[in-house]
Amino acid sequence: MIKLAPSILSADFGRLGADIAEVVESGVDWLHVDVMDGHFVPNITIGPPVVSAIRDQCDAAGVLLDVHLMIEQPERYVSDFVDAGARVVTVHVETCPHLHRTIQQIKSAGALAGVTLNPATPLSAVEEVLPLVDLVLVMSVNPGFGGQSYIPGSTRRIAALRGKLDDLGSKAYLQVDGGVKPGNIREVVDAGANVIVAGSAVFRGGQSIADNIENLRAGLQLSV
Ligand code: DX5
Ligand code: ZN
Repeated sequence: MIKLAPSILSADFGRLGADIAEVVESGVDWLHVDVMDGHFVPNITIGPPVVSAIRDQCDAAGVLLDVHLMIEQPERYVSDFVDAGARVVTVHVETCPHLHRTIQQIKSAGALAGVTLNPATPLSAVEEVLPLVDLVLVMSVNPGFGGQSYIPGSTRRIAALRGKLDDLGSKAYLQVDGGVKPGNIREVVDAGANVIVAGSAVFRGGQSIADNIENLRAGLQLSV
């Protein structure tokens, strides 16, 4: 079962509740929250109060809040985000010298633990923790901004991680984030991803949010 995780980074923050309502009505399973600190990545975005503010709306619809931490020293904020309503917390291997400990911290706080890596980081950087995590996220753009183009080599990285997870017998989610559109969603799913983040394709896709989501679903059904 493929899950779609719209990223609210590309939503209209002036009407965030209404945008989320439209996403929720479209029947998506997850909502992706991009947290940026202006240090690990150049941009500054969302903190725990916003997660807390959208929590009831997501809980009522059974939508899982998926929080992607693009921040230095993420261990300082894990419990704040879980308390605010995060059900998945994903950290970057580049920010975690004690990655094993941080994964345990996320699990102890009661969330699913995800690990991710930048496009230029070798896959070997996450190899030791693959048996421990609930989710692996392949960044298919350099983190920091929505609306960037998919980096083609990401497909090979998704496929390689799919092979490693399968070899381990892991049921961890394999997520992809960045530049996914109706025209390439099938490619990333065929490579083995099963949770698809999409920001601009959902909120700035040229049609209503509901229609943009339908276009992504239509892209999934095409054979390539
Ligand atoms: C990038 C973020 C992504 C971003 C995706 O740093 O992690 O989640 O919102 O946006 P699109 O789908 O527009 O590439
Ligand atoms: Zn993200």
